[in-house]
Amino acid sequence: MTRSTDIRRWIIDHYLQDGLDGSELRLETRPMPELAPGQVLIKTRLLSLDASNLLWLSEREDYLPQLQIGDPMRGHIIGQVDASRHPAFSEGQHVVSLQSWSDYIVADGDTLLDDALTMTLELHPEIPLDAYVGTLGLTGWSAYAGMIDVGQVQPGERVLVSGAAGATGIMAAQIAKAAGARVYGLAGGAKKCQLLVETLGLDGAIDYKGCDDLQAAIAEVIPDGVEVFFDNVGGETLDAVLPNMALHGRIVASGSVSQYGKAAQYGVKNLPLVTTKRLRIEGFMILDYLDRVPAMLETLEQWFLEGRLLNQNHLVQGLENAQAALPTLMSGGNTGKLAVYLD
Ligand SMILES: NC(=O)c1ccc[n+]([C@@H]2O[C@H](COP(=O)([O-])OP(=O)(O)OC[C@H]3O[C@@H](n4cnc5c(N)ncnc54)[C@H](OP(=O)(O)O)[C@@H]3O)[C@@H](O)[C@H]2O)c1
Repeated sequence: MTRSTDIRRWIIDHYLQDGLDGSELRLETRPMPELAPGQVLIKTRLLSLDASNLLWLSEREDYLPQLQIGDPMRGHIIGQVDASRHPAFSEGQHVVSLQSWSDYIVADGDTLLDDALTMTLELHPEIPLDAYVGTLGLTGWSAYAGMIDVGQVQPGERVLVSGAAGATGIMAAQIAKAAGARVYGLAGGAKKCQLLVETLGLDGAIDYKGCDDLQAAIAEVIPDGVEVFFDNVGGETLDAVLPNMALHGRIVASGSVSQYGKAAQYGVKNLPLVTTKRLRIEGFMILDYLDRVPAMLETLEQWFLEGRLLNQNHLVQGLENAQAALPTLMSGGNTGKLAVYLD
């Protein structure tokens, strides 16, 4: 590997207000420092762009410490150890870690070892690297924990996934299919719906952008009611699904991407149905399931090698294009995992 003499990283210039304006971050270049004893130099190979990036860029409280103006932007990466002055890390080793939007990361080896969000990665020789950013990465683990541990999906159950062609949703849908459920997806656009049904074998898909009345469209496709709803979108989508839930249905609250970065949050009107339909709504954070990742990864790798999981990524080339790619998550421009390839 050729090592750069500089490090480039995206710095927070200002918080987002009501949606992204595309200038929240600025790209900074600084000289590559000498590694001190105990430090590790990681070269970023893939930077994951996640819906949670919008939360981290806002001043609203979320599940991680608030980033400050002038801080490097936080992001999940797959990196490769470029140089090490720590005995536990060796050159060439791959790591997944929550770091920053940088092409190189200088990290303290002991801190990496203590960090639950940093793991060394044994790449399977028959699996491409980019599969580890989505299908076998954090969004894959989240979908697994949400659908299996929280949703406790059972064979034959009617499952609906919102944001079904996005990174987390596409995995949640495939995992529910692998568990033997009848699976339906909500996605924006006929092309995404076609992929869900024709390529992934879902039992149905609804183009929410192409229908006037989403609640009625769901009732038509799933007349007996949704038993498990894996919700990535929240807001109006959740409102349209609630009347379509079966008695005693479960809602896995994965996230509410439709509301991220918005100044005014949508108030869900149909929440009283949670009582009358005896529903259970349960949120989860993947951070609480990290000890299960090695086991999840083993299952996901096996399903991947058996051809049961599609590696569907939307890759953008070059760290300099990261900020411009972020709004894709709000416009629905991505199918599958949005990530930046730095190689
Ligand atoms: N709980 C956890 O631990 C955990 C972990 C990871 C991710 N998540 C959650 O998973 C969700 C998806 O995140 P991701 O990073 O995988 O992003 P993603 O699904 O790859 O991208 C977001 C997708 O959401 C859809 N979308 C955006 N705005 C929408 C709106 N107003 N109404 C309906 N759909 C909209 C778009 O697809 P369309 O073209 O279909 O509109 C877009 O492609 C987020 O809510 C995130 O917080 C949760």
